Order: sequence, then structure tokens, then C-alpha cells
Amino acid sequence: MSNVAVIGAQWGDEGKGKIVDLFTHDADIVVRFQGGNNAGHTLVVNGEKTVLHLIPSGALHSHKLCVIGNGVVVDPGILLEEIAGLRKKGYLCDDALLRISDAAHLIMPYHKAIDQARERLRGKGKIGTTGRGIGPAYEDKVARTGIRFIDLLDATTFRDKLKRNIEEKNIYLKAILKEKTLDFKEIYDAYRGYRDELEKYVTNTGVMLDREIKAGRKVLFEGAQGTLLDVDHGTYPYVTSSNTVIGGVCTGAGVGPRNIQQVIGISKAYTTRVGSGPFPTELKGPEGEKLKQEGAEFGATTGRARRCGWFDAVGVRHAVRINGLTGIALTKLDVLTGFKKIPICTAYRSGGALYEEFPSSVKALKNAEPVLEEMEGWNEPLSKARKLSDLPDNAQRYVRRLEEIVQTEIILVSVGPGREETILLKNPFV
Ligand code: IMP
Repeated sequence: MSNVAVIGAQWGDEGKGKIVDLFTHDADIVVRFQGGNNAGHTLVVNGEKTVLHLIPSGALHSHKLCVIGNGVVVDPGILLEEIAGLRKKGYLCDDALLRISDAAHLIMPYHKAIDQARERLRGKGKIGTTGRGIGPAYEDKVARTGIRFIDLLDATTFRDKLKRNIEEKNIYLKAILKEKTLDFKEIYDAYRGYRDELEKYVTNTGVMLDREIKAGRKVLFEGAQGTLLDVDHGTYPYVTSSNTVIGGVCTGAGVGPRNIQQVIGISKAYTTRVGSGPFPTELKGPEGEKLKQEGAEFGATTGRARRCGWFDAVGVRHAVRINGLTGIALTKLDVLTGFKKIPICTAYRSGGALYEEFPSSVKALKNAEPVLEEMEGWNEPLSKARKLSDLPDNAQRYVRRLEEIVQTEIILVSVGPGREETILLKNPFV
């Protein structure tokens, strides 16, 4: 029996949605454990595209239980829209298939207002957040002023907490951020409405997961964003506000580490980043443009164009170490078709030093020059490959070389967005 965690090994958008969807075949339960609707997991099933922001990607399978863990920050209005959208497509029709942790924190309208106002004030120094209120919601959680689902269920607790928070946030919004203030009653009524619709899903998901795991159910933990956006291990301060790494599974789903047997890192065959922050292998010329166009590198949540660059083995090795990756799923290999040479970044040079490990200093990262090793490219389209041996020789060599450089087995290669456009080398659930 094994439970599997899927973790982004880069700056997010690695194609986790597709991989989680594939692995869900062998899982009984899929759990989100961090982040919120800053995530956008794109899935293509039978040619139909679905983008999920909050609900685990397992929702596109019938009879799989989807869990939103305590580590997720939930915008209830968005969650209800997502449930309605899925229902319209014939998914998630049984209420028993969705469970939300009673300890998950709520994203409130003031979180969004603060997130967006701060970004405007930061000007050129902005983080490039998704503007969904993620950072301010986690700030309140750590400041011990956040509102959780369990608070929303109790009218008095919710009213008291909201009142206190609104008073404080309105002072901050008006005096510091020069923004409009928010109305208590409007928010109170809207959130009580959300409560009525969401109450049936709310439970102690930690206890539930413990029971299910003991009963032999297989669990897939679905990460959002990626290791290099982790608040502790990423390119701070150009990060998201949660722990996107494996440790986040324990805290954000409420399970012990011995319940996670396989940790699969998802990495593109190249690198992308959305928002601001250092990106040593970024390509600003025509090659970056080609990756962007061929890879349709536009954000699933904000529609922003993603910055593109070569595979950064320094960053992925960092992800291997922090997450203890047991395997890597390599996505979007097909996008590299047509490049004559394909460089791999094996180290950085910065300020006269050679970095083989990912530096903590943003300054070192901003000044980093990638040390590149060049591989020969290929021209054949890859989307029909179902075995590694179906790939052109140079594509096979590229995959094997990445495996050597990051010292982790590649267990899956994705050659297109569809479920079937996949070379599965090892199933992590068996
Ligand atoms: P926030 O999570 O909205 O606070 O944004 C912080 C940083 O994380 C920004 O650079 C975002 O672009 C980035 N980010 C947040 N969510 C995702 C994601 O799902 N994929 C890629 N980048 C993300």
C-alpha cells in the first residue's frame, strides 16, 4: 500500500493537474493541502479542457473523494462557482465526494483588497501575485486573527471575529493603503449565505484521512505552485505564502510523514515562471518566445504570459533534496521539438562564485549566469510516443541526461496535454 504526494519541482505550472488526474486512477482520495485559488490546474479529458483552482484534480473521476485540507485558504464564493461549473459538466454530482477541513482558513474580501492594493503600491518592486488575497489570508492565519470554516459555522463566533477584523482592516485600508473601506453587513450576509451552501462538506478531514488510510484507502496529495515558490525554500520574497514542499502535506492535510510513501516531483522539460523574481535560465529572445508559443505558456489563473527558459537542474536538484523526491514526472517534452540545440543549466556563476546548490540570496540568483551543457535537439513530433523507445534518439538522450544530472528516476514523460499523451515508466501506486 502506498500513498503518493505530487509536488511542483519548479516555479509552479509544471503540469501537475494532468499528472494528478492520471495518478488518480489508482487512488481513492485526492487531497489539496496548501495554496488557494492562486493555483490553476488544467486538465484535458476527451478533448475537453477544465481548469480547477481549488477542488482537487481528482474531481474529474467518478467515485473519488476530493478533500480540501486545513492548509488550504478557501475563497468560498470561488469554491461554489467551481462546484457549479463541475456539476454542469457532469462531475462531482454526489455531495459525499467533497470534504472541506473545518480548520481551513477563509479568504475574506479584505484579503483580496489588501493584496491588490499592496501590489499597486509596490510598483516596479511588485511580487506579481495573483491578486486573490492568498498572502494576506496566510498572514492572518499566522497572526492568529484568521477566520476558519469552524468559525463560520457558528454565527456568534463568526460575527465577533469578522467585526474585530473589519475594524482593523478598514483602518489599514483607508489610512495606509488609501483604499475604500468595506462594509461589515455586506460581508457578513454573503458569508452566512456561503455557510448555508458549504456546511454539508465541512468536517475534520485530518481524522477522516486517518480513518481512511487505516482502512487501506490510497491517498494522493496534490501540491499547488512549486518548490521554488515555497515561502521557506523558494526565491523569497518572490514566493507564495504557503509551504509548497513535502512538509506542507503533513501540516496542511494533518497526516504524519509515515503516511507518504512516494514523493513525485513534477518538472517541465524546460522552465517557466509567472510573476516577478529571479530566473537564471530565462530566455528573453526568440527561443523564449518559441517556448512560450509552442508550450502555450499563459497562466491558467490570470492569463499572464509565463517567462520561459532552459531546464534548470540547480533548481530541480534543490526540489529533489527538500522533498526527498522518489521520482520525477517530466512534462511538455514535446514542446522542445524543433530546437537545434537544447541547453541544460547545471550550475550558476554569480559574483565570482560557482553555485551547484540553489542559493538563498536573491541577489546571487538575480546575478546568476547559467552554466550550460548543450544537448542535440530533434525535429520529430512526440505526441504519439507511448514508450521511451518511441522517442527520437536525441529526445531519449535528453531524458536520460536530465535523470543523471538531478540524480532521480524519471517515472513518467508527458508528450502532450491529453491523458493518453503519456509515457508511463513506473506507477507510483504499485
Ligand atoms: P500569490 O500566491 O498570489 O501570493 O503570488 C505569489 C507568487 O506566486 C507570484 O509570483 C505568482 O505568480 C506565483 N504563483 C502563485 N500561484 C501560482 C501558480 O499556481 N503557478 C505559478 N505561479 C504561481
